[in-house]
Parts: sequence; structure tokens; C-alpha cells
Amino acid sequence: MHRLFMGSFAIALYLLPTTALYHNNEHDHWNELRGLTINGSKGLNTSQNQNSRLPLVIDTFQNPTHNDLGFWHGSGENLSVQHEPGFIRLFPTDPDQNFHTQFDNHLCYSLVPWYNEFLHVVFEGTDQFSVSLNQHNDECNPRRSPFPSVADSVQADRYVMHPRSEASGGDEDGDDDEDWDEDWDNEVDMDTDRKSKKHRNIGNPRNSRLKYSNETVEIPPGRRELYIPLTHFEIDFNRVVSVSFNGFYTQEPITLHCVEIVPSVPPPSPENGHFHLPGKLPSGRLVLRCSRPNSFAFGIDDGQPQFSQQIMRILDEENVRVTFFVVGAGLRDPSSNFSTFYKEMLKKGHQVALHSNTHPKMEALQTIREIDDEIIQTVQVFKEQLGIGSSYFRPPFGTVAARLRQQLARHIPNPYIVNWSVDVEDWLWANTSTPEKQLEAFYRDVSKGGNLAVMHYLHPTTIGYLPQLIQHVKGAGYEIMRIDQCLEDVSAPPL
Ligand SMILES: *[C@@H]1O[C@H](CO)[C@@H](O)[C@H](O)[C@H]1NC(C)=O
Ligand SMILES: *[C@@H]1O[C@H](CO)[C@@H](O)[C@H](O)[C@H]1NC(C)=O
Ligand SMILES: *[C@@H]1O[C@H](CO)[C@@H](O)[C@H](O)[C@H]1NC(C)=O
Ligand SMILES: *[C@@H]1O[C@H](CO)[C@@H](O)[C@H](O)[C@H]1NC(C)=O
Ligand SMILES: *[C@@H]1O[C@H](CO)[C@@H](O)[C@H](O)[C@H]1NC(C)=O
Ligand SMILES: *[C@@H]1O[C@H](CO)[C@@H](O)[C@H](O)[C@H]1NC(C)=O
Ligand SMILES: [Zn+2]
Repeated sequence: MHRLFMGSFAIALYLLPTTALYHNNEHDHWNELRGLTINGSKGLNTSQNQNSRLPLVIDTFQNPTHNDLGFWHGSGENLSVQHEPGFIRLFPTDPDQNFHTQFDNHLCYSLVPWYNEFLHVVFEGTDQFSVSLNQHNDECNPRRSPFPSVADSVQADRYVMHPRSEASGGDEDGDDDEDWDEDWDNEVDMDTDRKSKKHRNIGNPRNSRLKYSNETVEIPPGRRELYIPLTHFEIDFNRVVSVSFNGFYTQEPITLHCVEIVPSVPPPSPENGHFHLPGKLPSGRLVLRCSRPNSFAFGIDDGQPQFSQQIMRILDEENVRVTFFVVGAGLRDPSSNFSTFYKEMLKKGHQVALHSNTHPKMEALQTIREIDDEIIQTVQVFKEQLGIGSSYFRPPFGTVAARLRQQLARHIPNPYIVNWSVDVEDWLWANTSTPEKQLEAFYRDVSKGGNLAVMHYLHPTTIGYLPQLIQHVKGAGYEIMRIDQCLEDVSAPPL
């Protein structure tokens, strides 16, 4: 992995090159510090922490490549960062970019002792991003797919403490008696409100105190804090791998100063704008793999109408049922013939599921209203054109963080948000002089334990390989089925 060190002395502006246009399957960066141990780190002795209630200091950004626990921290998907001892500055341009700070790399880290505590982040700059807690895979092995296996995400701006002087004057936190659980309509209005109040507490005098390591220190002016109850992250706390920052819907820099876990939050006071914790918003179920033993599923997205009949023939011949993720606008367009085609696919027993209305990177949309439109309209088209609903949604480009998950959970009861663990990489290889790389990519991910695939029928080479892909999966002993079946959804049709 190359880093380009630019600038001088303490300031290193570096870019982590990754090859993927949408998704990066090589997680080499996760493993850079494998085996590195830092002695004397307070966070590592779980029982000690539990007894003394010291904060678990994850990262104070003293080092460019590893955190206070001795494990890797760094960026993915070409997120530019600038490190100086004591902080790291992120320069996001895309919601897929991320910055991870790891609890461990080749082990599953247990956060169980801290389950009732709070993730505390000290930062400067915009709050238009998500904070995620990432779960390791079943084997606790970063070389297996998927890695990380799943994440839960929260919207940073809901958890930011506001100084009193700015919290008054029409702010949504102005009502001191406000319930912990927020009203959804307020939430939507907040979205536009916040945009006009970016950086509203930058430069404000603060009296807040922060426990860095053992010392209580003043928070300097301009710094912001967020506290997230760990219970708001619905993942397996026995196998945590990292905290990450992602889902940026801003191009403004964010400077991280401290990431730690603390036993309590400051009590409401005038200094912190009577800060209180928001309630957990439902965020659906993110899935990257099938749960049924020996099952394998193809999730087929975005097709070209001229290849529909060919796809149907192949699936008939191979006698397999799949899940199609279909864009609403295409379904509505009579010239695509998709409405007729997918009705026939439904009759043949395939699953037809949601994939947004116009296929944007939904986490990049600025407002909740735009995200809602994409969801509501595609649900409407499904009802009109196919006469069905679906609780399965695949995010376009696999781009998903807190806001999309929350809005899906708001409009679709307990939705399945379907990513993947096998990528045929047709978006990368289908239309090149080496289309056979699609087979290699697929076989590689299957050999790494992936069992839920993504592919499209946009290019003849991909369609041409489909019978081989199916044979390969059958040959490996898997049974191919729809995604709802492979997830053991009780409302899925019987096998
Ligand atoms: C990331 O950066 C590398 C090298 O700078 C470049 O080759 C690659 O295309 C970039 N990827 C994306 C998604 O921008
Ligand atoms: C979706 O899956 C791809 C491939 O496994 C992965 O790179 C990406 O991080 C996943 N996104 C989420 C939100 O899990
Ligand atoms: C850190 O601890 C390990 C295991 O206890 C030991 O082998 C190693 O020498 C120690 N390193 C330092 C720098 O103290
Ligand atoms: C962790 O801390 C506890 C309590 O201080 C101590 O008894 C135990 O030996 C420590 N374990 C390790 C592995 O250092
Ligand atoms: C439209 O799709 C149906 C169902 O697959 C098919 O029978 C029909 O031939 C298609 N029409 C066109 C014009 O492709
Ligand atoms: C394949 O690539 C050629 C040349 O870059 C381009 O003209 C064509 O539109 C591409 N086809 C598809 C299906 O993407
Ligand atoms: Zn798509």
C-alpha cells in the first residue's frame, strides 16, 4: 500500500489509493498493523476497566497509522486525511469514503463490558456524517468475506452537544422539557434547519470538561462533542472490529481529536445547552450474507431491457430462483417492458425488490426529503406496476449509512437493507479486454466465504458468464435461492 507523503515535517497529507469504483474488496489496509502490540495501553485490560470505570481511550490521534490501542486507523475509498499529533483532519468528497479506528484486527474485540456506556467523540467542523460501529465476521478473520460483516450507524448531528448560547433562539433544543424521543416531523424539519446553521458553535466559549486518559481537561473553543449510547448500535458486542466515520453528505473538513468510551454523559446544564440524549431511531437490518446453512443467493440489479429475455432463459434452464433489485423509474417506463417482464419473473417465483427510484447515491443527497422521495416513489411504482410491496432494499452502489437506514425503517416496517459478500465486479471488468476477471472476482469472493452476490445484466459478457457462475456455486455444494429465503425470513415462500 503506497502512501504519498506531501507537505513538510509534522504534516503529512496522504491518500490511500484503492482500486474500486464503488466497492473495494481488498482490505489490505485493515491488516497493516497486524501483530503490533502497544504495551501499557489502558484499554486492553477489560476487567481493569470495568472495575475502575476509566474511559476506554480508543484514539487521540498521536500517531499517523495506529491508535491508542495500538491498532490501525486510516481511511478507505480515497478519503484524503491530514494528520498531526493530536488530531486527524478528514477531507470528504463522497459518502462511501470512511475513516476507521480499530479495536483489533485479527481478533474479535468484546465491547460487552462497556455495553451501557457511551461513545464520546471530540471533533471540529461539520456534523454531516454518520458514526458506525462495525462487527467482525463469524470467523474473526479479516481475510474472510464479508469484512467487516455488518455495521450499525447513527447520524452524528443528533448526538452533538450544543452550547446554551446557540441552543436558544428557535433551535430545536430550545425546549428544555423536550422528550428524549424525537418526533419524526421535527426530524425532517431539522434537516433543513441544520443546513443554515453549520458550525454554529465554532468559536464559542466552552466550559465543558473532557476526560482524556486520566486527566480532566478543558475543551478548547471550537471543539464539539458528541455522546452516543453504545446501546444505539445494534451489532454483536462480542465481535467488534472498529468505530468508523462515513456517510459524509458534505465536502467540508472534519477534524477528529478524540474517540473514547466513557461511563456517563454530562448532566444537562446551561453550559451544554441542556444537552440530553436523543432516542434510538430504528435503522433496519443490514445484511451482507445469507444465514441459512449452505444457501447462496444472487441479487441481480439494474438490467438492460434487451437482455431481459436472455436472463430469464438462463434462470429457467438452471432452475434457480433469484432476487431482482429494480429501479422504480425504469419500471414505470413502458419502453423498457420491465413491468411485464418482472410480473412474469414474479410468476416464475423470483423475488422482486426495491432499488430506489432514480438510482442516486442516496447518502449523498442533502436533505431527508430527497431521500424520502426516492423511497416513497419506488414503493408507489411497485404498487402501481407490479401490485406488490417489498421490505427488501438494495442501496444503489451499496452506499448506505445512518440517514438512509433510518428513512427506510421509517417507511418500510423492519426493512432488510441488502449489501453483498460476493461481487462479480462487472462494473469494473465487463466492458474491458479482460472480461474473464469477472469470473476470478466471483470465485475469489466465494472462496472467502461470501454467499450473497451482486451482479447486473448490463453487459453481454456478464450474462454469458452467468451459467458458469451458477454451476460454480452448485459445484461448491450450495443451494441457490432467493434472498428472503436465504435469510430465513418467515414470510418468504417455502423452498
Ligand atoms: C483512488 O485513487 C487512486 C490513485 O490515486 C486512483 O487510481 C483511483 O481511481 C481512485 N479511486 C476513486 C474511486 O476515486
Ligand atoms: C457493502 O459491501 C461491500 C462489499 O462487501 C463493502 O465494501 C461495503 O463497505 C459494504 N457497505 C456496508 C455499509 O456494509
Ligand atoms: C510488550 O509486551 C510483549 C508481551 O508481553 C513483550 O514481548 C514485548 O517485549 C513488550 N514490548 C515492549 C516495547 O515493552
Ligand atoms: C487486568 O486487570 C485486573 C485487575 O486490575 C488484573 O487482576 C488482571 O491480572 C489484569 N489482566 C491482565 C491480562 O493484565
Ligand atoms: C415483454 O416481456 C414479456 C415477459 O417476459 C415478454 O413475453 C415479451 O415478449 C416482452 N416484449 C418485448 C417487446 O420485449
Ligand atoms: C463499452 O465501452 C465502449 C468504449 O469505451 C463504450 O462506447 C460502450 O458504451 C461501453 N458499453 C457499455 C455497455 O457500457
Ligand atoms: Zn444499481
